[in-house]
Amino acid sequence: MSSDDRQLTISEALREAQKITRLHSDSPSLDAQVLLGHILQKPLSWVLAHPESRLSPDQQVTLSQSLSQLESGTPLPYLLGHWEFYGLKFSVSPAVLIPRPETELLVEAALSWLRAHPDQRAAADIGTGSGCIAVALAKHIPDLHVTATDTSPEALEVAQANAEKHAVDQQIEFIQTDLLNVERSLFDVICANPPYISTATLHSLKVYGREPTLALDGGADGLKVIRTLMKEAPERLAPGGLVVVEIGASQGLSALALAQEAFAGADIQILTDLAGHDRLVRVETNHEN
Ligand SMILES: C[S@@+](CC[C@H](N)C(=O)[O-])C[C@H]1O[C@@H](n2cnc3c(N)ncnc32)[C@H](O)[C@@H]1O
Repeated sequence: MSSDDRQLTISEALREAQKITRLHSDSPSLDAQVLLGHILQKPLSWVLAHPESRLSPDQQVTLSQSLSQLESGTPLPYLLGHWEFYGLKFSVSPAVLIPRPETELLVEAALSWLRAHPDQRAAADIGTGSGCIAVALAKHIPDLHVTATDTSPEALEVAQANAEKHAVDQQIEFIQTDLLNVERSLFDVICANPPYISTATLHSLKVYGREPTLALDGGADGLKVIRTLMKEAPERLAPGGLVVVEIGASQGLSALALAQEAFAGADIQILTDLAGHDRLVRVETNHEN
């Protein structure tokens, strides 16, 4: 046996990786491919087209270290240091929530409203985390100004770096503060993906302890942050503006009630995600509200 034969082929490495990725992931095969692509510094298409190619000794060591980290619960995006959201690559660290595909619905809703209202260009992104919402909006609407807030200074550092990476840092002002507690008086669009999992539920989920609790814990009923945000938003929304807030799958009715209380007379909708779950509360006010 040559020393080369002791190195795993890509197809063997993928099988080894999947034994671990299936422990924590809903997409173990894709995660194994993404990990191999990262280690080999090759696109997924190359990884899939070269099953008989062998890893170098260094790559095999990196694979084995990465699999140990994944096995102990480190999410793959933290291990890679980046994750994709809305077609853009975002740096992520354990200080920020890993951007989720469901949140792309919020970006879609905000972008479609902004395109229909070309004179309304002041947006807020509350609880910006990695900055994925603020950056995606700014990238698609070049004359948009976004005020992005978070209470976590570590998250804001990641968000700032992402804004610079995507060359939209001139359009976004990052502020460490609670919710909408900023000097700018009125926003045309207020976006938020706040923490919305109830504390008790969160403690029973795999994600607990792996991603920041501050990003996930919505208090006793999960609605603590959404409730405060809905109370504050009417004062800060420009006439004829839009509020879009991500919610949990079972929070549609409660979020609807909170929005109706805050924005009497507005057009209020609960939007569902691709899985058919309640995912967004969308409030559009007219110039009289
Ligand atoms: C669910 S994460 C969303 C992160 C990012 N916007 C996304 O969609 O991936 C919620 C974020 O809100 C921040 N946060 C929690 N409470 C907050 C508050 N009272 N004011 C501002 N930000 C808050 C957390 O630090 C976290 O970054």
